[in-house]
Amino acid sequence: MAGELSPIDKAKFVAAKRAVDFVENGMKVGLGTGSTAAWMVRCLGELVREDGLKIVGVPTSSRTADLARQVGIKVVSLDEAKWLDLTIDGADEFDMDLNLIKGGGGALLQEKIVATASDQMIVIADVAKQVAQLGAFPLPVEVVPFGWQTTKALVEETLSSMDVLGHTTTLRMNGDRPFITDEGNYIVDLHLHRIGNGRQLSLVLNQIPGVVENGLFIDICDIVVIGHGDGRVEVRDVTAGTVEETRIEFTSSDNMFADLGD
Ligand code: A5P
Repeated sequence: MAGELSPIDKAKFVAAKRAVDFVENGMKVGLGTGSTAAWMVRCLGELVREDGLKIVGVPTSSRTADLARQVGIKVVSLDEAKWLDLTIDGADEFDMDLNLIKGGGGALLQEKIVATASDQMIVIADVAKQVAQLGAFPLPVEVVPFGWQTTKALVEETLSSMDVLGHTTTLRMNGDRPFITDEGNYIVDLHLHRIGNGRQLSLVLNQIPGVVENGLFIDICDIVVIGHGDGRVEVRDVTAGTVEETRIEFTSSDNMFADLGD
């Protein structure tokens, strides 16, 4: 089955597989959302079922909660866990300082809350997510439905004084209706093309009434595990200043690859 995976899925899988090496018995683990994080949840489930790994997981979306339960991970809420040892999640973009854009899957709010409540955040990504400067991927901003058009207009006005290239914003849709997050909010995607100062932009956006949170993760992530389609995996630790490279063979059982939903 592994032979049927596309290079990008192989890259996501090997990043996920390597990242679960960081999970130890007794840990409380934040479980990210998205297709790469789904690989990680499956890898963790395998360790729980087959190696007796004892962990509890705090999912960052209802999708991840469903998958985690399916694969045998004990799921608790963040309030039950209170503080987490580690969160492993995907990203839409990461730069050399491990600042991220997240929220392509619409789960940025829970993802940021969970990652911030963790001793460590590890991002897992295929190499295509690495960028010199953030911003090619549209920046998701979660807004409350009440007055969303006014909030969107205020966001656009704010962008005109920010160090960004584009100023267009779009309401994220799900068919002919607005996309609704797990928290019942909307997402406005900002097409910025280049973000000059992510820290400043993040702070300013979050000051607009109606904005709940934005998808910039600044100084939250410590380690990135980068997967390549040929099985190579790079672990980059910005705090320690280390880079380690290994190779992972595709030997996992078939059911790891069956029916993978994001
Ligand atoms: C979910 O809201 C996002 O933050 C995801 O973590 C991000 O979009 C990466 O998703 P993929 O692993 O599917 O690319």
